[in-house]
Amino acid sequence: MKGSNFLSIAMIFMFLSSSLSLGCVTSERRALLNLKEGLQDPLNELASWKGFDCCSWNGVDCDHSTGFISSLKLNNTALGGKISPSILELKHLTSLDLSLNDFNETNIPEFVGSLRELKYLNLSSSNFGGPIPHQLGNLSKLEYLDLGAGWSSVINRLSDHDLGWVSNLFSLRYIDMGGVNLTMANNWLDEFNKLPSLLELRLSSCSINVIPYSLPFLNLSSLTVLDLSSNNINSTLPPWIFNMTSLSMLDLGVNAFHGEIPDAFKSSSSLSTIILHFNHLEGKIPTTTGTLCKIEYVDFSWNNFSGEITELVEGLSQCHPAPNLTQLILAHNLLSGSIPSSTENLSSLQVLFLQSNRLTGVIPEGLGRLSMLRRLDVSSNLLNGVISEAHFANLSRLKEFDISLNNISLTVSSDWVPPFQLNIISMPSCHLGPDFPAWLRTQKGFSELDISNAGISDTLPDWFWNLTRSLPLFNPNITVLHLYDNSFEGTVPLDIGATLPMLKNLLLSNNLITGTIPSSVCEMEYLEVLGLANNFLSGELPRCWGSTQLLKILDFGNNNFHGSIPASLGSLTFLVSLHLNNNSLSGKLPESLKNCTGLVTLDLGDNRLAGEIPIWMGESFPNLMVLRLHSNRFVGKIPTELSLLTSLQVLDIGNNSLSGTIPISFGDFTAMIETQKSGDLLYEIWGSYVDNVVLYMQGRELTYTKTLDLVTSIDLSSNKLHGKIPDELTNLVGLIDLDLSNNELVGKIPEKIGALKMLLSLDLSRNKLYGPIPPSLSTMTSLNHLNLSYNDLSGRIPTGSQLQTFNDPSIYVGNTDLCGPPLSNKCPDDDKHPKTNATASHENESEAVWFYSSIPPGFAFGLLLVYGVMLFKSTWRFAFFLSIDSMYDWFYVTIGVNMRRLRRKFGAE
Ligand SMILES: *[C@@H]1O[C@H](CO)[C@@H](O)[C@H](O)[C@H]1NC(C)=O
Ligand SMILES: *[C@@H]1O[C@H](CO)[C@@H](O)[C@H](O)[C@H]1NC(C)=O
Ligand SMILES: *[C@@H]1O[C@H](CO)[C@@H](O)[C@H](O)[C@H]1NC(C)=O
Ligand SMILES: *[C@@H]1O[C@H](CO)[C@@H](O)[C@H](O)[C@H]1NC(C)=O
Ligand SMILES: *[C@@H]1O[C@H](CO)[C@@H](O)[C@H](O)[C@H]1NC(C)=O
Ligand SMILES: *[C@@H]1O[C@H](CO)[C@@H](O)[C@H](O)[C@H]1NC(C)=O
Ligand SMILES: *[C@@H]1O[C@H](CO)[C@@H](O)[C@H](O)[C@H]1NC(C)=O
Ligand SMILES: *[C@@H]1O[C@H](CO)[C@@H](O)[C@H](O)[C@H]1NC(C)=O
Repeated sequence: MKGSNFLSIAMIFMFLSSSLSLGCVTSERRALLNLKEGLQDPLNELASWKGFDCCSWNGVDCDHSTGFISSLKLNNTALGGKISPSILELKHLTSLDLSLNDFNETNIPEFVGSLRELKYLNLSSSNFGGPIPHQLGNLSKLEYLDLGAGWSSVINRLSDHDLGWVSNLFSLRYIDMGGVNLTMANNWLDEFNKLPSLLELRLSSCSINVIPYSLPFLNLSSLTVLDLSSNNINSTLPPWIFNMTSLSMLDLGVNAFHGEIPDAFKSSSSLSTIILHFNHLEGKIPTTTGTLCKIEYVDFSWNNFSGEITELVEGLSQCHPAPNLTQLILAHNLLSGSIPSSTENLSSLQVLFLQSNRLTGVIPEGLGRLSMLRRLDVSSNLLNGVISEAHFANLSRLKEFDISLNNISLTVSSDWVPPFQLNIISMPSCHLGPDFPAWLRTQKGFSELDISNAGISDTLPDWFWNLTRSLPLFNPNITVLHLYDNSFEGTVPLDIGATLPMLKNLLLSNNLITGTIPSSVCEMEYLEVLGLANNFLSGELPRCWGSTQLLKILDFGNNNFHGSIPASLGSLTFLVSLHLNNNSLSGKLPESLKNCTGLVTLDLGDNRLAGEIPIWMGESFPNLMVLRLHSNRFVGKIPTELSLLTSLQVLDIGNNSLSGTIPISFGDFTAMIETQKSGDLLYEIWGSYVDNVVLYMQGRELTYTKTLDLVTSIDLSSNKLHGKIPDELTNLVGLIDLDLSNNELVGKIPEKIGALKMLLSLDLSRNKLYGPIPPSLSTMTSLNHLNLSYNDLSGRIPTGSQLQTFNDPSIYVGNTDLCGPPLSNKCPDDDKHPKTNATASHENESEAVWFYSSIPPGFAFGLLLVYGVMLFKSTWRFAFFLSIDSMYDWFYVTIGVNMRRLRRKFGAE
């Protein structure tokens, strides 16, 4: 009996459920099958679309009471192809989601506007293209419309010239048109302002240029989210934005907004998120005493805000209860004053970014009470003072800590156990020394450590550096280790490759490291930057460079390495910069080097390399900007093929034993013919490594780092070159330095030498040049260093604007037949010659004074400006190249370090 009871209940249940599923309306089922037929379905996501029960098909939802299809969710199913108009059969469809598909830039079908019951329409990130059909304006029940590019990187190919249709969507609560090109839709705001029930308006990356400064009325009173980020809006902030009493999220970042924040901001008490980063806003940040109490996220970074942050912080800390402010990002402005001690009242802070401002004073101890803090960056300010244990008292959640580039000392007791375990430790240019910071021993999990230039003169302690002994110390995931510019003693651990397998950057330059480079470095297959320059390393270079395929920078300069250059370096095909200079390397250049076709800098100077300069050198390096073989033992002729190096700006092969003549083809160096250098001030930043080359210029040794890409120089001095100076060299009108001294060159100085208008330094001394000094030389207004001594030149020294400043006789000495001032021997026709005065040089002096005083150190823009000016005020360039490298350091470090930070910010947060 029990069994038959059960059976009948089961039968009733089956009957009921089958009758429900039979509710799938036949016409709708047919419509779906038509739809399926038109669609491309590479992943077979619509495989379930068969049989009668269309309500149970994937992505299909039916209304339980009526049986009609109410919703189609076909998002993220790789669909494409054609949307059949049969979809109009679904007369009760309220929700359609086709997002995250690929409709190959086809138009949104106009008939979508006839799905009159739609409340929800999502076509985002589905690669529709062309104009948005204005028929969408017929969807008067629509509450949610997403036509944006979403989070995917797919570029939105939709555009619209006239948003008039939008104002018919009077039920609309949410609209996202992110990435839709609205450049021509100047009426955008007027139309959205007709939608009083709109809650979220998202128009990021829409190429919008204009926003009305004032509105006759504000209908958008319910708006809670306004996202206008990443447009091209170049105007002041319209005050009406701050009239919206429900606005909670405001994102105006990455535009060209300028001027000050309007006073209306003070009363915008509903805001919880405000993002204004990457604009040109200025002035003080308005005080907000007792308002802004719902604020959780503030990002004002990368503007020109000035004034102190005290008022902002104190205004916020007057809210009761305290606002749940988790992120305060004010980096990259011109903020001054000190970090107020009331910051400690912002007890919800997780992220505090104040880097790259002009903050002064000490870091208040109270920051140590911000127990939620995860990321603290106050780098690149003018902060000073000592921070100690108290500053970290409750920072147990701290993961990222950057106090670099201030004047801060970190003084803690040697047995301090910090409450945190950091991921990123960035303290370059802080005072940590002279002892090695013992507390680092407690940090087991960091992936980046930068304690460069920290005044540490200590042996790298065993527990830190002897990786064999202290295996648990280093997180095997560590990617960045910067210890450069200290006085560390010790050796490179033998097993470094095995214990730090993930290392990308290893910078140990400028220390007192001894020993050899262990061959285990070759096991670090993620290594990109390896800087060991300026140490006391010795032995032969490892010969195992086969697995470190990603290496871009290899700097072994200024050590005591001997032996030959490893042929396996040729397998480093991504190499950009190779410095082996100032060692005792010998032998020939391995031919395999020609595989390093990406090289930009090749510095092999000051070694004992021998053989001929190989012909392949000219043919292998299309990007090579700097070739330095100075002070080696190269012999034979200079290959004419070197002129094929179209990017070459610095050719230094002086002080070898090269013979033959100067190739005529040297007049063809493309990059030396250009007079306008790109001035790529943002030299590619390889994790804080700065390329550098020492050049002998203007009679002295100069180290070029960040300005290197502005230098154009040919140094063939101290070889055994004979023959004439090719006239073709005067084609190189972008050249700023030419040194042919100490050879056996004969003939006359090229008549057109004056065409080298940018030349700062010209040295032709100690050759066998004869004939007169060409008068054109006197027109070289940039020239600052000239040496023609010890030749057989004759006749009167020309006078004229520039040569007048060369009144040092030693630059002409050793030419017995030269005459006239500044030499004491008179020319035969001297009495007929008019006297000149020396006003020109006075003028130069005062210009130089102006030049120095006009660069406020640390003004990137000022620097650019000055550089721009210098392009036509050539007399200043000399000063530029002599002095600005150090100023540039500041610029570079600030911008460079912060670019890194920026990437981290967007990558990690
Ligand atoms: C489709 O979107 C909904 C939210 O609208 C989401 O829950 C679902 O996971 C998405 N489907 C796919 C396949 O991504
Ligand atoms: C996308 O469209 C282009 C041209 O309109 C066509 O050449 C291409 O084959 C289409 N791709 C797919 C996957 O249909
Ligand atoms: C937007 O459209 C305008 C004119 O229609 C065009 O000039 C512009 O390049 C487009 N912008 C983008 C980012 O495609
Ligand atoms: C914004 O508020 C100010 C002050 O309350 C008022 O004068 C102004 O008319 C408002 N603007 C709009 C567009 O509502
Ligand atoms: C903004 O417009 C002004 C005036 O038209 C112009 O001088 C300035 O360069 C523009 N700024 C940006 C960032 O486009
Ligand atoms: C802060 O957050 C807490 C918990 O999430 C909440 O109870 C409180 O109301 C919030 N305070 C403010 C001012 O929003
Ligand atoms: C590192 O420690 C190991 C084990 O204690 C020891 O054998 C080795 O000599 C040490 N290496 C150096 C360079 O101190
Ligand atoms: C290293 O990274 C891996 C993968 O990201 C992670 O699972 C592991 O926990 C990390 N190890 C340490 C010591 O952080």
